[in-house]
Amino acid sequence: MIRAVPRGTGHYLPVRVVENAEFEKTLDTSDEWIRSRSGIERRHFAHEGEKTSDLAIAAARAALLDAGLEGSEIDAIVLATATPDQTFPSTAVRVQDAIGMRGGFAFDIQAVCAGFVFALAQADAMIRTGLARRVMVIGAETFSRILDFTDRTTCVLFGDGAGALILEAAEGEGSAEDRGILATDLHSDGRYSDLLYVDGGPSSTGTAGAVRMSGQEVFKHAVIKLAQTGAAALKKAGLDTTGIDWLVPHQANLRIMTMTAQKLGVPMERVVVTVQDHGNTSAASIPLALSVANAEGRLRKGDVILVEAIGGGLAWGAAVMRW
Ligand code: ACO
Repeated sequence: MIRAVPRGTGHYLPVRVVENAEFEKTLDTSDEWIRSRSGIERRHFAHEGEKTSDLAIAAARAALLDAGLEGSEIDAIVLATATPDQTFPSTAVRVQDAIGMRGGFAFDIQAVCAGFVFALAQADAMIRTGLARRVMVIGAETFSRILDFTDRTTCVLFGDGAGALILEAAEGEGSAEDRGILATDLHSDGRYSDLLYVDGGPSSTGTAGAVRMSGQEVFKHAVIKLAQTGAAALKKAGLDTTGIDWLVPHQANLRIMTMTAQKLGVPMERVVVTVQDHGNTSAASIPLALSVANAEGRLRKGDVILVEAIGGGLAWGAAVMRW
């Protein structure tokens, strides 16, 4: 059977680093509160005029370099973002043009913080059904553009960045020993759409709006749903938690990651954690973490990696892959 096998990763973070202490100047908050509640120490913010596509293009170029490929050798781009450059066209076509991809197709998908897992599942399905052979999956966000900097309950938590993963078709045996994506598991439940949303949009206010979140409620859903979807994806792959080499969770909150890892029975030294340096970069957080871990030489060929995320929707899911 055809498997979607990882071929290369890349990431990009805006140059501007914002330490927690900067928020102390304008808000009733502290470095200690932000660190202890979320694990976040700093985040990157795009400079004025720097767009989501700029971050995505830099990550895409880095992934092509890592894979030893030209843009013209990519068949499709699936880009997950909640902060596109424009309402349309898609941010993905900006990347398509910039990397010199003159054929194939490119489109955006929107599942907020779960976006990368949803994009990965689409890319996997496209490769396994023969719609494309080589797919670039990107998560890219400039969340700083939709933050209310007077709201201390949200603005201290998010950051900007982009990560990319190139997948390509390869023959597998159909067993859990195959390299590539072994299983995916996706969910959403619109009854919880008011727990985490943006209070604007083209067809409602005509503005971009700002993030609003019932943090505690989302927290409770996150721990339960992430452990459930992680276990479900592993079961579909014919594996259990003892087979996991790396857990690469959505980087929203260190406490959520620790509790989910505990529920899954994965020790923290097997969890890739970047939230301290990136904050919550929504759809970019998993590909950023994957790319950082790959660049550090931590991911070895044959390693089993579980990725999982939850975000606005609520939308959540997981994927298991053998590197
Ligand atoms: N600085 C200081 N105090 C603050 C701050 C701040 N930045 N923010 C909130 N507080 C205060 C609150 O007002 C509250 O004060 P009160 O008790 O006087 O009312 C107190 O701190 C405690 O607030 P809680 O909301 O109970 O704090 P909690 O421990 O739940 O942590 C957090 C908040 C970090 C938001 C946490 O709930 C969380 O991480 N939630 C999940 C976020 C998440 O995973 N989102 C999903 C992905 S995001 C996406 O899809 C876009």
